[in-house]
Amino acid sequence: MAKNAVITGWGYYAPSRVMTNADLERIVDTSDEWITSRTGIKERRIASDGETTSTMSVRAGRAALEKAKMRAQDVQLIIVGTASPDYLFPATACLVQAELGATRAGAFDVEAACTSFLSALAIARGMIVSGAVENALVIGAETLSRLLNWKDRTTCVLFGDGAGATLIEASNASVGIESTVLHGDGTKGELLMVPAGGSKIPASSDSVERGLHFITMAGGEVFKLAVKSMADAAEEAIAEAGVSLDDINLMIPHQANLRIIDGVAKRLHFPSEKVFVNIQRYGNTSAASIPIAICEAEATGRLRRGDKVLLVAFGGGFTWGASVLEWYGAHDGVRPASPLDRARGVLGDVVERVRPL
Ligand code: UT7
Repeated sequence: MAKNAVITGWGYYAPSRVMTNADLERIVDTSDEWITSRTGIKERRIASDGETTSTMSVRAGRAALEKAKMRAQDVQLIIVGTASPDYLFPATACLVQAELGATRAGAFDVEAACTSFLSALAIARGMIVSGAVENALVIGAETLSRLLNWKDRTTCVLFGDGAGATLIEASNASVGIESTVLHGDGTKGELLMVPAGGSKIPASSDSVERGLHFITMAGGEVFKLAVKSMADAAEEAIAEAGVSLDDINLMIPHQANLRIIDGVAKRLHFPSEKVFVNIQRYGNTSAASIPIAICEAEATGRLRRGDKVLLVAFGGGFTWGASVLEWYGAHDGVRPASPLDRARGVLGDVVERVRPL
């Protein structure tokens, strides 16, 4: 059985269409000043007509597999975290599985709103460490622009589209994903939801007329709970990993609102220069925000081998959670010849060989 699960590949995709705050000023009664000062957002990406959660997931997933030098047919599990799937079913993960040609992979979606990626990561880690699978492609992806009421200024200025992916692999090394904590409070579900389109309020001309298929949110309530819950989960994940906050080199929080991110850091007495922020360019991409941020942090040299990383998220449900991991990075190009070798946990030996512990 593998001792640990490590991230060996990562990639993201953001639609090329940029919508700035100035663009929004022309659509709804808002201003760049309001959006920037209340949220930190300057622009967001919006999917083009042909793009969906699955097409963006495929692009991110392919990039993660390339980084890990893993063939699609060797992937054993695909989990897509999303609240904006292509369909109610089949799962977006199945569409991704087909398009990637991941013929041996199991596939399912996880829906925990903005905590979906962390939830999928926790499942993948558990299945890898238990020996059920050797690897998993974990994707967070959203096309929230299709669930927004573009006449509702309280929500449409906040969200954006995109996808991020990580490949997680079994490892016998003593480093990897060291803790995952997840929480939920369904009594607050109605504060952030898409009311119609499910079994309670099926899609009908009436539901569409009343705009019930759009995201609704009591922003202030969400805000208050987000800061405290994320800070609490961060402390829990740190304790479970057996480290202290001082050991954390980089915090990658879910990018919902710059004031929430600052509030979490302040509550934890965590230095803001060690917090990764890219909300100004993407807005809130929900499940995609953490994996996109992982990719950008790595690309800009803020994630180096051996760094301790704290991931933390909060979202509708309510759901929240955190994870501590030690960044391993892409393995150094030595990959066991066959899936059988991998089944024997050879990657772990590779990990240990290239990175003395
Ligand atoms: O991903 C996890 C889930 N989502 C979140 O974490 C989001 C959490 N919430 C928030 O980020 C913030 O609550 C918001 C950014 C949504 C709102 O910020 P706020 O400081 O809580 O503002 P508010 O809701 O108290 O609204 C203040 C005013 C209101 O006007 P009145 O009633 O005081 O006259 C709003 O109508 O701002 C008005 N307003 C706007 N004005 C210009 C709301 N949206 C806009 C807008 N442009 N886009």
